Amino acid sequence: MVKEYIEKNQQRFLDELFELLRIPSVSADSRHKGDVRKAAEFLVAKFNDAGVDKVELCETKGHPIVFAEKIIGPSLPTVLVYGHYDVQPPDPLDLWHSPPFEPVIKDGKIYARGSCDDKGQVYMHVKAFEAMIKLNTLPCNVKFMVEGEEEVGSDNLGTFVRENKAKLKADIILVSDTAIISLDHPSITAGLRGLSYMEVEVTGPNRDLHSGVYGGAVANPINVLSKMIASLHDENGHVTISGFYDKVVELSDADRTAINKAPFSLENYKNELGIDDVQGEKGFTTLERTGIRPTLDVNGIWGGYTGEGAKTVLPSKAYAKISMRLVPNQSNKEITELFTKHFTAIAPKSVKVKVTALHGGQPAVTPTDSAAFKAASAAFEEVWGKKPIPTRDGGSIPIVALFKDELGLDTVLMGFGLDSDAIHSPNEHYGVKNFLLGIETIAAFYNHYSKNN
Ligand code: BES
Ligand code: MN
Ligand code: MN
Repeated sequence: MVKEYIEKNQQRFLDELFELLRIPSVSADSRHKGDVRKAAEFLVAKFNDAGVDKVELCETKGHPIVFAEKIIGPSLPTVLVYGHYDVQPPDPLDLWHSPPFEPVIKDGKIYARGSCDDKGQVYMHVKAFEAMIKLNTLPCNVKFMVEGEEEVGSDNLGTFVRENKAKLKADIILVSDTAIISLDHPSITAGLRGLSYMEVEVTGPNRDLHSGVYGGAVANPINVLSKMIASLHDENGHVTISGFYDKVVELSDADRTAINKAPFSLENYKNELGIDDVQGEKGFTTLERTGIRPTLDVNGIWGGYTGEGAKTVLPSKAYAKISMRLVPNQSNKEITELFTKHFTAIAPKSVKVKVTALHGGQPAVTPTDSAAFKAASAAFEEVWGKKPIPTRDGGSIPIVALFKDELGLDTVLMGFGLDSDAIHSPNEHYGVKNFLLGIETIAAFYNHYSKNN
């Protein structure tokens, strides 16, 4: 029934999603503050059209949170859906084949910033809900909390959750903001990595200098920073920060075998990325390196002269943004402290170092034996004709750990993207098929979850 409803309405669903994708709700860019709000207002209107009891645009110190609910019976289970309507900046713009906020469908894929992360996936929830309301088949209570600051660290969501525990009361949290292995191999994410995101500033001389007059005699902060960064990994790809691995949960051989059973082709992986070889921590496979191992990466590095032509300069300052992905049971707070101590300690006397923590969050593992996980599994089996495989994703959704701590609730990570969807990159896209099957799977989840609760 839901399937027919989707088929009948699919053009309108896509038209509406396109309207949402046209709003450049870039949370990181203050010039888009009004657009971020517009996206929230768009969702408010669509929740109303879909048939919620009430919907609110909740103000925060930053971008607003959209909350909506439909309570059909106090004794029925309640699902709280979380997602985000903000998107990453579209830069670098010149690498997009079509403008990031003018969605187009090409080869069955919707190209636009946010198509997969996370507007497309949030919108599947709005439409699955609409379908069940219009068909009069919604079997449980549903609440929605869609935020506009996920891509900048969800600074105000923690406060909102703590101050609205009664409003958010639910039995399970459902999130579609992750990936499946492929259309042939559906999967459910059972773990996400945490994050510590740092910015470092290295200062040498008190002003930019002539690199001929002073070069060789005064520390060049870019040279120094490069060397410091290079020293953060040893020759086996281990992170050298002392204590970095102390709390890392080492998986049993059986768990590692299970992770490596997931369908994965290293050849395709390399081809898709245009690389001749992979690189990472010695002794671990690619799936383990992104799924269960902590890592450290430089996200950006700058300083000195980068304009046209050559300028001979020994710069005063150099900067880098460095992130660490964390796994159970590492603590975001502890790792941030260890990094700060280590990075300060390895700096030569010839420079000064400033380390700032930008944001971060805890890793999360979700139970795979819960009624909710089993319902998600059954929903995939029903719609995709295949049992989904539990996987560990490398990305982070810090709010999942917060939900557990503050609301005592587990999360089901039922995402429908693909790793190749280029989220955060130019030419982000999302399969029309993923979008439509996702709607159907979400509706099936409500049915299976309500049956068993
Ligand atoms: N949806 C992603 C996280 C993600 C992507 C999880 C793919 C699993 C698979 C989310 O929007 C995101 O980008 N999170 C950030 C962290 C946040 C604190 C900025 C990330 O992982 O870098
Ligand atoms: Mn996301
Ligand atoms: Mn993201």
